[in-house]
Amino acid sequence: MNAPVRDIIQSEGSAQAGPVLSVSGLAKAFGGTPVLHGLDFAVHAGVATALIGANGSGKSTAMKCLIRLVEPDAGRVEMLGRDVTTLAPRALRAFRSQVGMVWQKHNLVPRLSALTNVVHGVQARRAGPRTWFQSIAPQAVRDEALTCLDRVGLADKALQRVDSLSGGQQQRVAIARMLMQRPALILADEPDASLDPQSGEEVMRLLANLARQDGLTLLFISHRMEHTLAFSDHILGLQKGRIVMDQATAQSDATRLRRFFEE
Ligand SMILES: Nc1ncnc2c1ncn2[C@@H]1O[C@H](COP(=O)(O)OP(=O)(O)OP(=O)(O)O)[C@@H](O)[C@H]1O
Ligand SMILES: [Mg+2]
Repeated sequence: MNAPVRDIIQSEGSAQAGPVLSVSGLAKAFGGTPVLHGLDFAVHAGVATALIGANGSGKSTAMKCLIRLVEPDAGRVEMLGRDVTTLAPRALRAFRSQVGMVWQKHNLVPRLSALTNVVHGVQARRAGPRTWFQSIAPQAVRDEALTCLDRVGLADKALQRVDSLSGGQQQRVAIARMLMQRPALILADEPDASLDPQSGEEVMRLLANLARQDGLTLLFISHRMEHTLAFSDHILGLQKGRIVMDQATAQSDATRLRRFFEE
């Protein structure tokens, strides 16, 4: 299912075909305990990459270090042509606006409508209080937010309060809000983790399809082997803070992967 996509991307040979993300020597310790032991890996344009590993292997820490939500102790992160590790705070904030993030917990505002929450996504690319409330948002922003909601299959719930939606629907609103950012790259940390198996799979499929449709690079952390196999083109396996697997999904098999999902 994934191989044709990779073939298309490679055969296009676009100017952006190099790595969108290139990491070298990324290290982090907490209280003297090393968690990441100098990671080296690359993520290529338009490719969906799964980051897998047992609980506590360092997946979330690694992802947060990429955009310095956690400050790495050492190493270099080059993302979208910038050396993220040397960006000053202001430049870092501006840089993060190009990176769409999806987390286990979506951080939507529960008492506001789905549409208003999605409108908030525009703040990442255009500052200003006018975007805060849907009622005073410019029409173009509203229309784009509706389009984003439509892309996640929730146009009919636009005016419904977020706290009246199901967990899976809420996560889809969070994805629509992230699309509103018009990201160049998506980082997702177990977006399906707090959902029942069926909703979780729907959310993962949606995210993978949207990234594919827009030709976006996607790096996602997954704790489900079926999702890793179904939705990634490439797999990075972490074990105790070290990358011990870096290969195309088409070359992976369930037996080799199983150990990354054991706790
Ligand atoms: N802020 C922190 N302070 C101290 N230790 C931390 C901190 N964040 C993470 N750790 C530790 O770093 C290690 C890796 O944690 P991390 O959350 O990156 O793992 P993970 O692979 O994402 O695990 P999970 O599958 O449970 O989400 C764990 O031992 C964790 O306890
Ligand atoms: Mg984690």
